[in-house]
Amino acid sequence: MHSIYQYQEFLSDYLQSQYETKEPRNLYEPIHYILDLGGKRIRPVLTLMTAEIFNADYKKALPAALAIEVFHNFSLVHDDIMDDAPLRRGQETVHEKWDLNTGILSGDAMLILAYQYFEQYEPIVFRDLAKLFSKTALEVCEGQQWDVDFEQRNDVTIDEYLKMIQYKTAVLVAAAMKMGAIIAGTSTEDANLIYDFGLNLGLAFQLQDDYLDAFGNPETFGKQVGGDIIENKKTYLYLKAMAFSNPNDAAELSRLFSIHPEDSSEKIEVVKALFNSSGASKATQDAIHDFTLKAFQTLEKINISAEKKDILKDFGENLMGRKV
Ligand code: IPE
Ligand code: MN
Ligand code: MN
Repeated sequence: MHSIYQYQEFLSDYLQSQYETKEPRNLYEPIHYILDLGGKRIRPVLTLMTAEIFNADYKKALPAALAIEVFHNFSLVHDDIMDDAPLRRGQETVHEKWDLNTGILSGDAMLILAYQYFEQYEPIVFRDLAKLFSKTALEVCEGQQWDVDFEQRNDVTIDEYLKMIQYKTAVLVAAAMKMGAIIAGTSTEDANLIYDFGLNLGLAFQLQDDYLDAFGNPETFGKQVGGDIIENKKTYLYLKAMAFSNPNDAAELSRLFSIHPEDSSEKIEVVKALFNSSGASKATQDAIHDFTLKAFQTLEKINISAEKKDILKDFGENLMGRKV
């Protein structure tokens, strides 16, 4: 096994080895730009790590890990257009730095590039990876559409929200891990269990993402803090605050989440205060904890050594405590 840092390095080195100067530059430069902004590389690290957990050489998993990372970055380029986000990883988003059309087309090309990486696997593994990838990618689109639809709705339930984040975020974390298992040729049972582990970890991850979107440190977060509030995203924080608030506060919150003021700084402050005073912040932290524990319970059923389970638990605990 290797450390998370080492897996990040393996992925980065492999990514750099793939670059060639290709025309037209306005198609490929934004792709290299977003990929070189780095990020935590959580998903590809999980692919490499899972391959080794199930006794394969991480090198065998590099193309799939990069496919996952390229797909994820594609989804971010388009997501930042949809969310009108100015910042990603502390830098300008692609559509801000270039323009909307560049963001759309570079994103499209990234989706295709991601698929191409699976061509490096033998037919049976290729089929399993491509099948899982197509299913996952379509689910991500479904989750993204729900997320957008929810901006306009004021009757979103917690169950609907959880399904939405499962689709837009958690399934990719789960698939990243299952791909490592598929490449290692592990049993279907263990591959499905590791998928489940990733799914719950992914749910905890997105809840944490929502929490940090409101309460992260603007100096280090890398994204516009308060972006979800500006866009009236019906996050767990919002839904719990609505459920816990007295009728006056709930009415105010609901009103604030139906407007798009020119200057949103006051709206953000009022909303954050209501998230805290209502107990929604605490409830979100509790939910992050619960989903992480649920992931750990699944882990117990997997047929791997206690040391390997500890590695995955460490990873989950680190995710829970992250600030960016
Ligand atoms: C992004 O969700 C999900 C996908 C790109 C598929 P968010 O919109 O909540 O994520 P951030 O906060 O922009 O990273
Ligand atoms: Mn979004
Ligand atoms: Mn977004």
